[in-house]
Amino acid sequence: MNTIPLVNLKRQYAALKPEIDTAIAEVLGRQEFINGKAVTAFTSQWLAALCADHGAACANGTVAISLALRALGIGPGDEVVTTAHTFFATAEAIRAVGATPVFADIDRAAYTLDIATAAVSKRTRAILPVHLYGTGADMDAILAFATHHNLKVVEDAAQAHMAQWNGRALGTLGDAGTFSFYPGKNLGAYGDAGFVVARDAATARTIAKLADHGRESKYTHDLVGENNRMDEIQAAVLSVKLRHLSAWTERRRHHAKRYDARLKQAGFKVIEPHAKAASVYHLYVVEVANRDQTLAHLQANGIGAGVHYPIPLHLQPALADGGGHPGQLPQTEQAADRVISLPICADLTDDERERVCDTFLKIAQA
Ligand SMILES: Cc1ncc(COP(=O)(O)O)c(C=O)c1O
Repeated sequence: MNTIPLVNLKRQYAALKPEIDTAIAEVLGRQEFINGKAVTAFTSQWLAALCADHGAACANGTVAISLALRALGIGPGDEVVTTAHTFFATAEAIRAVGATPVFADIDRAAYTLDIATAAVSKRTRAILPVHLYGTGADMDAILAFATHHNLKVVEDAAQAHMAQWNGRALGTLGDAGTFSFYPGKNLGAYGDAGFVVARDAATARTIAKLADHGRESKYTHDLVGENNRMDEIQAAVLSVKLRHLSAWTERRRHHAKRYDARLKQAGFKVIEPHAKAASVYHLYVVEVANRDQTLAHLQANGIGAGVHYPIPLHLQPALADGGGHPGQLPQTEQAADRVISLPICADLTDDERERVCDTFLKIAQA
């Protein structure tokens, strides 16, 4: 019995090997690893892909968020409204700049920030929606709320490469948008890498500077920055993979459609993107009543599945000083108890997807 991993990076590399190996060999040939032409090239390619004008590459998707917040002037004493149904990094990056995450609940259809549940105080400075699973949060409602309360918007698009809201790329609608190129992402590097899109050139310039020791020129530092640059090997790999991203996204959508057809018919709740959102299905998530049993059955049958995420951030031990308590965010907490992620990478075959469905449907309870 062949195993079906949640993400099949080995299969992807086998298909891309000549292109990737050549791109890496070129970097090695140049012996230019930092601040070189591969990062410059990828920066313009990624901005062009998003139809965005300003942005900067950086070391990973976590610092992408903190760099965006810093550049927008958010820091100690400030509050940032966000979701607790996300990877820990979202809140970690808020805390990294000295600000406080304030969690709102989620819209259970799309598993993204329900801004109607947000608590705003005198200290609130920004909203940080997460386009979780590759599906857009309701940006119309979030942008209107931000305008009304005079707040910045930073979109965490770590899982939403080339996903859209009303025909525009997610990550380009707020004051800034951040991306992770962690290896398992839809567009993944061969190590850590990230990116920030900014609404204006000055913010993008500040982010680029902050990520490179606050440097204005080689020896002049006009900000106290960080060493959080993207490196040349990562940029070279990302440029190769970017050429395939649209085709991979179509493949993910194809799988999602087929999963939806079978699982919805069997009575399961799956991701329901907002009518204005075009999802890129970084993860395919379905809710079950018997998760442990389902995970064990999938694993026994050689199928990799995941849980994104079992512990909401307001209940994480590291954030206990925020006073979060069970019952605070009912939709978030129910989702956290019930979600399970099934394999959906572009390299999954149709037969494999059907085997995942058959195996899942044998055991899972809606
Ligand atoms: C929603 C979300 N935000 C932030 C991050 C952080 O990105 P990175 O792992 O590149 O630091 C990730 C991914 O890991 C993520 O999924």
